[in-house]
Amino acid sequence: MLAFHEFGTGPAVLLLHGFPLDHTIWERQVDRLAAHHRVILVDLPGMGKSRPLPAAEVPTIALIAEQVFALMDARKLGEAAVVGHSMGGYIALAMAQMAPWRVTGLALVGTQALPDSPEARTRRIAMIRQMQEQGTGAVAEAMLDKLFAPSLPADSPLRAQVDAMIRRSSVQGLKAALLAMAHRPDMSASLYDIAVPTLILTGTEDQATPPERSEAMAEAIPDAELVRVPGAGHMLMMEAPEAVTEALERWLERIA
Ligand code: MLT
Repeated sequence: MLAFHEFGTGPAVLLLHGFPLDHTIWERQVDRLAAHHRVILVDLPGMGKSRPLPAAEVPTIALIAEQVFALMDARKLGEAAVVGHSMGGYIALAMAQMAPWRVTGLALVGTQALPDSPEARTRRIAMIRQMQEQGTGAVAEAMLDKLFAPSLPADSPLRAQVDAMIRRSSVQGLKAALLAMAHRPDMSASLYDIAVPTLILTGTEDQATPPERSEAMAEAIPDAELVRVPGAGHMLMMEAPEAVTEALERWLERIA
């Protein structure tokens, strides 16, 4: 089963981190959200303390979504609001498509409904090859600059925190996640079917997932609120924790 950390009581909210990160990206949000909710921070397969997907399985986003549903089952949770950052957003969208009755609200943070372009897929395969030769440090070196707004000072402790997080992941786990993302389907058509309160959060300086991807989702999802966080990059929950927490609190009030 996936590793998780649970705080607070009340209606459930699951938080899914992006690639190649872990649940600690949400540590600046937990206390306030847990004041009125049962907050479950999840480690996705092969990241944080969760085991990688089984090597014999073809890794897919749907398979990871099934693992999150299995965690909900184990915690006796019929339904939950789901927050997904980037890759976590791909999984949240899959969950809303696979079992919409189990998802009471969606918060899509620095993510998108579009699949990889052929070029992006090729880059992922090259990254797998490089990581197998040089370890997860190669992923940290390739990704770190793109994860933050260009204005973030070079000596910001956030960089060191995320660098260590990436290096802690397992090569096998990141390989499966890269393959799952490379082959993820286009979810654009399914956005029109989302019938729950949806928050779409984007950093205006996101260099990994451009804000236009969020704007496109906000246009398609019927009950969507788009919040642009000025000056923040892809790691907006760490770069602008106050703005992100406030937006999440307002969204959770809409679900109640
Ligand atoms: C993430 O933060 O999860 C990744 O940037 C998503 C991706 O590589 O598509």
